[in-house]
Amino acid sequence: MSPAQDLYFVQQLVGDMQNFAYLIGSRSARQAFVVDPAWNVQGLLDRAAQDDIEIVGALVTHYHQDHVGGEIFGHRIEGVAKLLELAPMPIHVHKREAEGVQQVTGASAGDLAIHEGGDRLELGAVEIRLLHTPGHTPGSQCFLVAERDASGAQSGHLVAGDTLFLDSCGRVDLPGSDPRAMYESLAALRKLPDETLLFPGHLYSPEGHDALGHQKRTNPYLRAASVENFLELMGY
Ligand SMILES: [Fe+2]
Repeated sequence: MSPAQDLYFVQQLVGDMQNFAYLIGSRSARQAFVVDPAWNVQGLLDRAAQDDIEIVGALVTHYHQDHVGGEIFGHRIEGVAKLLELAPMPIHVHKREAEGVQQVTGASAGDLAIHEGGDRLELGAVEIRLLHTPGHTPGSQCFLVAERDASGAQSGHLVAGDTLFLDSCGRVDLPGSDPRAMYESLAALRKLPDETLLFPGHLYSPEGHDALGHQKRTNPYLRAASVENFLELMGY
């Protein structure tokens, strides 16, 4: 198998809030991570099993209940706790999100693999870079997934959680949100190559993904030329 075909990447719509969960891994290694396991944990594990892929860890974009499970508005959303019950595995979180993930899911410190921005995870020929993108929450992170092809070129998928959506961005009026940090995070994402494919944390647009280059031209939140401009757009 050529390494260019090694990427295993599944986008799965889950639950009542139009959340996306993802499976990201390597076909040659037959292993993957599950991103934001919530709403239908068994369904995500079943999908991987159908593809003969073992889930070896969870990647958390941020600690909100619709992404990791927990109690919200009197409803219980299943998530990380159910995953740990069914198949114990490391839960990869940014260090500033560790406390929130434990509070919301009931996971213990020992269940977590704690990361800084810039950390990398590898499965087969697939590399996942953890980008710290605070703003929606203090420890929000995006995952930049790249696979080296035969020519050495890298193609990228950006799994952006609630930092960047198609045509919009995550809320910054929630506890722990920081609008100025969000502007800086979006400015950093804007530097990624145009051909990067953006995969958001929710389906808030007709399409499930888009080229980042197109979003750079059309998404007003990504186009904001200054922090003042961005704050005005966000209603500050
Ligand atoms: Fe969120």
